[in-house]
Amino acid sequence: MNLSAFPDTQQLLYGVEWQGRVAQKGRPAPVATKTSEIMDYPLVTDKALDVDPVYKELQAEGPVKVKLPFGEPCWLATRYEDVRSVYGDRRFGRVLGIPRDSPGVWIGAVMAKDPTMLVNMDPPEQSRLRRLTSGAFSPRRISSLRDQVQVMVDDLLDEMADQSGSVDFVSMFGRQLPPRVLTLILGVPVSEAQQFRLWVDTLTGLDTEPDARHAAEETVHEYVTRLIAKRRSEETDDLLHVLVHAHDDDDRLNEEELYNLTMAVWLGGLETTVNQLGTSLFALMTHRSHWQELVDDRELLPAALEELWRWIPSFKYGVPFVRWASEDVELSGGVVVKAGEPVLPEHSVGNRDESVFPNGWELDFHRHAPRPHLSLAFGAHRCMGAHLAQLEIQVAFERLLRRFPGIDLAVPVDEVHWSESTFMRSIETLPVTLR
Ligand code: HEM
Repeated sequence: MNLSAFPDTQQLLYGVEWQGRVAQKGRPAPVATKTSEIMDYPLVTDKALDVDPVYKELQAEGPVKVKLPFGEPCWLATRYEDVRSVYGDRRFGRVLGIPRDSPGVWIGAVMAKDPTMLVNMDPPEQSRLRRLTSGAFSPRRISSLRDQVQVMVDDLLDEMADQSGSVDFVSMFGRQLPPRVLTLILGVPVSEAQQFRLWVDTLTGLDTEPDARHAAEETVHEYVTRLIAKRRSEETDDLLHVLVHAHDDDDRLNEEELYNLTMAVWLGGLETTVNQLGTSLFALMTHRSHWQELVDDRELLPAALEELWRWIPSFKYGVPFVRWASEDVELSGGVVVKAGEPVLPEHSVGNRDESVFPNGWELDFHRHAPRPHLSLAFGAHRCMGAHLAQLEIQVAFERLLRRFPGIDLAVPVDEVHWSESTFMRSIETLPVTLR
């Protein structure tokens, strides 16, 4: 991935020019009922972890045509089965869209254009890279990190406990854990975690000056290249070592592929997990009886976390990457996406589809869901770091429950600050009292 080839690198993942670009604010007019009508999208602005009731109407409607602030019109999939098809059906791909005017909520999203990024490839090239990386991110290898992750979590909880008064969970825990875990993957001292965060902040920050951004790109490139070279000559047991030595018959990852994959892990795995930690705690603190259920019965935690993954809308409206149909494909209600047309899979909405998840707008830890949630996508591009993100969140909440069962919000819910300038539902500060 050549970051410097793209002048607006800070828009890469985190979005810029959100301000004022959301088509309509507040409640929308009733949803049009003809698929031939094109609605401006997003219809509403994101608010905390709400999924606006207008999406129930959209789901009833089936796929509709929308126009995002940037790019050409596209289909919007909100039903579970449609979202799953868009992610899982090989007739939908990413490569077709690279030279096109991609629909998006921010301009010039590099991730949407860089053909060397995994997320922009289609099988079989993409499958080859996934095959070569599968050993490094397998459930077995990731669960072997559990003890080390637990030590990191306990250290952070100790640091929180040392504070007097309320503490900010986001800055003291949420923003700390994922970069520390990244040091395990790269096999570097945990003291470098802070540096990773600063680099990512500089690379993706909305107010970073271009010179500072280019300097950070060069530094990161040099750092990662040096690490890869070291792993070629030294025996270590970190995931980067596994990636460097991954092979399938005679096939191996080349230098550029290794660099791109390391950056994909870096950029795809930090901010997402930081936000998910904060929003998961927010969801639990604002569903107090659910938290109490977990305090009373810790065995319920795995089911509860699975439900939180389903229920929390991690990305803002319009953010998931569109897919392009390589031939005519029929979605629900007989809607045909014509060859060459883009579709936006709004998976947070699909996750609430009541035909699959009865009472799906409610958080229910006793749900026996017949189908898996789509928060980590599905099919060829299913999140490569899924097991790692799940491990981090699981260990965090296991230890938090044990250590601070009486944890509570230290401010009224509507005083929790949400970030307006990122592509995710992201909490800026989450003050809590620890008990
Ligand atoms: C809360 C945490 C996370 C969420 C919600 C999340 C979500 C997603 C989603 C929805 C996709 C599919 C994108 C698409 O194809 O349109 C994806 C792909 C990806 N994720 Fe994650 N992710 C998370 C954590 C991580 C972590 C921890 C890592 C790395 C260690 C990671 C690395 C990746 C990579 C490399 C891809 C591209 C896979 C491909 O295109 O084949 N993610 N993620």
